[in-house]
Amino acid sequence: MKKLSLLPVAAVVGLLFFQGTTKPEVENYPVHPALAPDMPANIKAIVDQKCYGCHNAESKNEKGKAKLDWDAFEAAKKSKQMATKGKIAEVLEKGDMPPAKFLEMKPEGKLSEAELATLLDWSASKKKGGN
Ligand code: HEC
Repeated sequence: MKKLSLLPVAAVVGLLFFQGTTKPEVENYPVHPALAPDMPANIKAIVDQKCYGCHNAESKNEKGKAKLDWDAFEAAKKSKQMATKGKIAEVLEKGDMPPAKFLEMKPEGKLSEAELATLLDWSASKKKGGN
């Protein structure tokens, strides 16, 4: 009985801890330094938390890396950046990213509605770097 009654407490503590470590919209979240320095801070924070793990130059996720490498984003020509943003908007609209299989194992990787809206807004914008 005693052990059981501790379970909800453990769950709440776990949840609090998780939220404390993954605040995606904090302005100065310590993002990976290589991640597009000119991108707006709120976009970087979301990408860092929810996309970067699979989509960076050193990622072990070969498929993900091949399709999108955030480390190469900043240096890319505007036309390339626009194409990438278009792809991003596309997968977000379809709800394809992060991949469903991954979310089954890691539901906390899902974009919140606010994050989704912010990323969509950014990916639909036409400016280089996305300011
Ligand atoms: C768990 C790993 C993982 C995470 C997290 C993830 N992706 Fe992906 N992503 C992939 C893989 C794998 C592919 C390749 C899918 C394929 O080819 O079928 C991909 C493909 C893409 C593509 C290319 C689609 C195309 O058809 O060209 C875009 C754009 C993309 N992801 C954006 C994102 C964004 C934005 C996020 C964060 C919201 C994100 N991804 C999070 C693994 C991931």
